[in-house]
Amino acid sequence: MAAPAARVAYRKGNVQMADYDSYYQTEDLFGKPYAELLDFFSNFAQRGSLLDLGCGQGRDSIPLARLGYTVSGIDNSKVGIAQMIEKAGIEKLPLTGLVTDLYAFDRYQDFDIVLLDSMLHFEKRDMKREMELLDRIANEIKAGGILCICIQDTGKKVKILKETINNTGLAFEILNDSSLTYVYEDKESGHSSKTRYCMYILKKQ
Ligand SMILES: C[S@@+](CC[C@H](N)C(=O)[O-])C[C@H]1O[C@@H](n2cnc3c(N)ncnc32)[C@H](O)[C@@H]1O
Repeated sequence: MAAPAARVAYRKGNVQMADYDSYYQTEDLFGKPYAELLDFFSNFAQRGSLLDLGCGQGRDSIPLARLGYTVSGIDNSKVGIAQMIEKAGIEKLPLTGLVTDLYAFDRYQDFDIVLLDSMLHFEKRDMKREMELLDRIANEIKAGGILCICIQDTGKKVKILKETINNTGLAFEILNDSSLTYVYEDKESGHSSKTRYCMYILKKQ
């Protein structure tokens, strides 16, 4: 059976021009996906439905759709979503994009896998709402569902992530808890920088 064609939806009325719309004038702003993430999902037995929350330009969504996952990417940058959908359309990937505010999203139970890559920062200003978001996702994903979080391993971010999961009181099996290096290359200046990341993948019991 042929894969469904990629398509974009734009939910009017609740989305402002996103900051990232201007950043995404640079193609593939955040570079390549982490090899470790693709390696994990290449070897993961079940191909299923995957929600990429804050998918940006599709850095993860596109290669995961190529691996056979049915991917839904949501982001409030219509530029990022349009770029992702255009690329996915050329390859007829099973990838849907939705421009919306992820804090208004409430269909977590519909997905086998929920991915948050570089979406949680736990900076003072956003700490409470990010912790509440994580708590809500952990509660709402289905039993057997996978939660994959990639987060900068600086300061107390990883500690807060794990404490927030523990505080839900829910049972999760840890499928992966590893450290990786993200290399960011600034295409204009040619300058590159390295950042430690934690990849934390859980299965809800
Ligand atoms: C640091 S980028 C990460 C993009 C992608 N996950 C990746 O790793 O390449 C953060 C993304 O989150 C999106 N974003 C931030 N706040 C959002 C919100 N409230 N609703 C939807 N998208 C949001 C931004 O537009 C941006 O694309």
